Amino acid sequence: MKVAVGSDHAGFHLKNRLRDMLRNEGYDVRDHGATGAESSDYPDFGAKVGHAVANGEAELGVLICGTGAGICISANKIPGIRAVAVSEPVTARLTRTHNDANIICMGERIVGPEVAAEIVRVFLSTPFSGGERHARRIEKISELEHPA
Ligand code: RB5
Repeated sequence: MKVAVGSDHAGFHLKNRLRDMLRNEGYDVRDHGATGAESSDYPDFGAKVGHAVANGEAELGVLICGTGAGICISANKIPGIRAVAVSEPVTARLTRTHNDANIICMGERIVGPEVAAEIVRVFLSTPFSGGERHARRIEKISELEHPA
């Protein structure tokens, strides 16, 4: 599976750790930065990973900032992106099965590295349920991107 990862400076260390873990586990990971811990702007990386997932370059994405919030808000501005900020694995699973979320976001200042690893593993390995009611609701989300 192709996975896009990204972070700002505040998520740099956790992003690198998760990137390396996923590569070791056989995922095809493209790192969209940040490339260092100097100050950077989370919308730049939310947009890069958002575009990579929206255009099909990657199936799913992983984004890290200090809280997980700003980079998630940014990614959700890209049409087709359903990014969700989580701090535990249950929501990571349910947002795949119910919402067909395509990017998971976390905060390096919020989530410990072992919990983050579990969240990413659960997110990437859980399929969308495909249920009719969930598909209908996701279609309604898509319609919000194109107001009449
Ligand atoms: C950077 O200091 C911090 O504001 C950013 O990483 C993120 O937490 C914003 O939502």
